[in-house]
Amino acid sequence: MEFITYEQDGFVGVITINRPKALNALNSQVLDELNETLDNVDLDTTRALILTGAGDKSFVAGADIGEMSTLTKAEGEAFGKKGNDVFRKLETFPLPVIAAVNGFALGGGCEISMSCDIRICSENAIFGQPEVGLGITPGFGGTQRLARLVGAGMAKQMIYTARNIKADEAYRIGLVNAVYPAEELMEQAKKMAGGIAANAPIAVRNCKKAINDGLQVDMDQAIVIEEKLFGDCFETEDQKAGMGNFLEKDKEKKLKVVPFQNK
Ligand code: CAA
Repeated sequence: MEFITYEQDGFVGVITINRPKALNALNSQVLDELNETLDNVDLDTTRALILTGAGDKSFVAGADIGEMSTLTKAEGEAFGKKGNDVFRKLETFPLPVIAAVNGFALGGGCEISMSCDIRICSENAIFGQPEVGLGITPGFGGTQRLARLVGAGMAKQMIYTARNIKADEAYRIGLVNAVYPAEELMEQAKKMAGGIAANAPIAVRNCKKAINDGLQVDMDQAIVIEEKLFGDCFETEDQKAGMGNFLEKDKEKKLKVVPFQNK
């Protein structure tokens, strides 16, 4: 692959968008490679993913403006679908995904971070949806996910004004969970991913599905979704080991619980 690197560090997979000459902007090839990378993640040996950008200046500076500049209406729609399909794959990926936002997260960059489960960023991160300044709407889910994450009023302000916001404001409005000095960002992302990976993998996957699916329906349906995913955890080796250790009051063992059953 030319623009995506994938590294496995224990149970954690790190996906890096690596097109620094264009500040990691998303062209069709990057989207195709990201799609292929996700398809190739080994779900039996991986428990969490981190998504970041190469270099220290930019996470992802948006969709590729050069590629978009000559598109027809139909091609524009198809390009939107291409991005949306990959981002939806990321959003519904069976494993938790942490976006480690290390600089510009503009347009498609902000949008891809919002397709991840959790966002943390460096102090130099800049978020924004500058599309209306380019004569287009956000096209990779920004109108939908930003409104869901920070509320319609704040999302509309950011999108209509096309004003970028710095890391501290992104934190204040709840777009990111934490802000770290740039040199600590990956270490913190790995620490969080490692903490997730130390928990029962079936339970973590079911939590992601319960939260994602439940948010799409009313509460009566949502709690049924939870009941089914809760029930699905029982009889797994993780559940037996996790609860058994507690009941045996075996603190040592409890600390050592290493869930191993993925299916
Ligand atoms: N597409 C294509 N190329 C891009 C790019 C993008 N989104 N963002 C940056 N680049 C390229 C620049 O063209 C430049 O290439 P050259 O060296 O070949 O000229 C290189 O990356 C470095 O960029 P700058 O020289 O502009 O760097 P800077 O530090 O002066 O500015 C920046 C950084 C503020 C991020 C600026 O590059 C910028 O404004 N980029 C565009 C951001 C943007 O508008 N993103 C939204 C795109 S639309 C979208 O994403 C639609 C959607 O929802 C799907």
